[in-house]
Amino acid sequence: MTDSSPRDTVRQNTVEQNTVEQAPVKRDILVTSALPYANGSIHLGHMVEYVQTDIWVRFQRMRGHNAVWVWADDAHGTPIMLRAQKLGIEPQALIDDMKAEHESDFLDFQLSFDNFHTTHSDENRECVELIYSRLKEAGHIVSRTIEQLYDPQADMFLPDRFVRGKCPNCSAEEQYGDNCENCSSTYDATDLIDPVSVVSGASPIKKDSEQFFFKLDNFESMLREWTRGDQLQPEISNKLQEWFDGGLKDWDISRNKPYWGFEIPDAPGKYFYVWLDAPIGYMGSHKNLLKGDNSEFDKYWNPDSSAELVHFIGKDIAYFHTLFWPAVLDGAGFRKPTAVYCHGFLTVDGAKMSKSRGTFIKARTYLDHLQPDYLRYYYAAKLNNKVEDIDLNLEDFVARVNSDLVGKVVNIASRCAGFISSRFDGKLASALPDNDLFESSVAAGDSIADAYENREYSRAIREIIAQADKANQFIAEHAPWTLIKEDGRQQEVHEICSLGIVLFRNLVIYLKPVLPAIAEQTEEFLNTPNLQWTDSKTALYGHAINKFKPMIKRIESEKIEAIVAASKEDLDAEAALSAGGEAANGELANDPISEEIDYEQFAKVDLRVATIVAAEHVKGADKLLQLTLDLGGERRNVFAGIKSAYEPEQLVGRQTVMVANLKPRKMRFGLSEGMVLAAGPGGSELFVLSPDQGANAGMRVK
Ligand code: MSP
Ligand code: ZN
Repeated sequence: MTDSSPRDTVRQNTVEQNTVEQAPVKRDILVTSALPYANGSIHLGHMVEYVQTDIWVRFQRMRGHNAVWVWADDAHGTPIMLRAQKLGIEPQALIDDMKAEHESDFLDFQLSFDNFHTTHSDENRECVELIYSRLKEAGHIVSRTIEQLYDPQADMFLPDRFVRGKCPNCSAEEQYGDNCENCSSTYDATDLIDPVSVVSGASPIKKDSEQFFFKLDNFESMLREWTRGDQLQPEISNKLQEWFDGGLKDWDISRNKPYWGFEIPDAPGKYFYVWLDAPIGYMGSHKNLLKGDNSEFDKYWNPDSSAELVHFIGKDIAYFHTLFWPAVLDGAGFRKPTAVYCHGFLTVDGAKMSKSRGTFIKARTYLDHLQPDYLRYYYAAKLNNKVEDIDLNLEDFVARVNSDLVGKVVNIASRCAGFISSRFDGKLASALPDNDLFESSVAAGDSIADAYENREYSRAIREIIAQADKANQFIAEHAPWTLIKEDGRQQEVHEICSLGIVLFRNLVIYLKPVLPAIAEQTEEFLNTPNLQWTDSKTALYGHAINKFKPMIKRIESEKIEAIVAASKEDLDAEAALSAGGEAANGELANDPISEEIDYEQFAKVDLRVATIVAAEHVKGADKLLQLTLDLGGERRNVFAGIKSAYEPEQLVGRQTVMVANLKPRKMRFGLSEGMVLAAGPGGSELFVLSPDQGANAGMRVK
């Protein structure tokens, strides 16, 4: 309850009195983040962008603007089709599962999006078909016959990822038909040397096929002008000039079946390429949010819209968002983006995220050990408005969060709140001892707001922490803990601690876009619900507050070790199931038969019948079970990635088949001395192999 005794208004602060505030213009801003692919889990790299977006959106809302954040899973394309095939499930089941997983990761990271939809939706299909028909009508689509690889045995055109061969650039073996993992060059599948179809193993032939192209060069002058404006960061504008100089090529927006996506109307067997329907997914998600309110939809998407359309993306997908996307929108009679904000990539401890080092950290693995605020804060402290990579240095992460949030910000409240509760009946004083300090805290708000608006979050954080330093210094100088022991100085202590609390409140207001959970706890603590940006201008006088509970604890470094270990374990689980290192859940249900080996090669693999004499959970491991296998006298310790499919007690006493001469592998939990054999796509669908009754432990499998 807010105390509203007459004393509340004893002394109003004077900051606002001299400034003539103009009625703020309420902006309508439609914000998007890039749509994550629905074939994998969210990792901390993705979270850079999603936290960046969330901070901006929350900031805009605190300023009284109408910021609507819509996005979706990117649910189409060959990799998703292939992944579903590997798992032996329908693509629809895969994308449904992934969407639920992604959405729960995002909610647990406290992202404040308005809608998270999917590109495989009716709304998106409607938008894609409308855009395509308008583009076609306006003459921006041409059809051309091109040569493509065709599998004569399977009787189908081969998408890029269905064909492997030697890289035409560096001759690396076993490369896909779109780009080389060895030298990163991109090429057409028809350029591969000695191509082989992944579907049947046959050598593909070249066959003519009709495809649809979007004529990007129809938009050259519009794009040249648009890309020079302040919609884009200078780094991106400059890069675009290179692309213009290289010439704008027609863009192939169609794919032959089999493809997972939307079939093109009046072109049976042809599908829209995923990168056409993915950005249109922004519209689809918005449409879904609006549930048929077409005038609201038009308000944002009409060419003369006064609303803003702002996209947050990573540097790897700038081409799609700054050339194709504005051209597609323009050609189909929609508005163009107000801004495309591009960020760099995340590195962890100075290097690309690595599975073997345990720095390829999934969002869920992080959340299993730490609350989101810490990482949100660290990203904010690192992000600026340039296209620069940012580094998550794990040691620095712990030090920075502990020092800034615990040691500086929350420390102010913990130093002052105790006295207010125990000595002053839980009420703040009716006057502040140092109005200058309060006014400087108010004045800082403008520059901090400017930093958020321009996505210079690291500057915002710097300026906020400078304010925290000032407040701490004030408290240290006045040492209320000493004064309280002196007679007749109670009033002073009351005012000093009250000012501390008021300054703390302003810090939390400024940090609220970054730290929503901490802000919420502070709102409860201070009895000031739903803090808005301008609330920093009014101090609190005679106001009743609640008992202080620290909003945040120090990060213990063991938590980081646990996160890294759990991320390594993901890899161990993969390795434990498959010597080839292929994901535990990545083996094909209808996997094409592997390359031939001769008998000598096979004979090297020593397969034995083994009895599982003990099976246990492994402390701290999500995917592994520890098995003790008896080989007819000799015992082996094996870690197997089968926890998702078996309870230990189901396995004890059972016979199975193991690779007995596999080189022992050191894992975090101990040495694994062999491998048990199991079949199936993974997850709960895994089947440990067993011999028929009568086989004895130790028998060789021939
Ligand atoms: N599906 C496309 C985007 C379609 S938008 C119409 C895609 N998906 S993605 O899952 O690969 O990436 C989603 C976003 O996360 C992209 O903006 C990408 O740049 C970003 N990031 C993915 N890995 C990243 C890092 N390691 N670091 C920072 N951002 C990263 O691209
Ligand atoms: Zn190559």
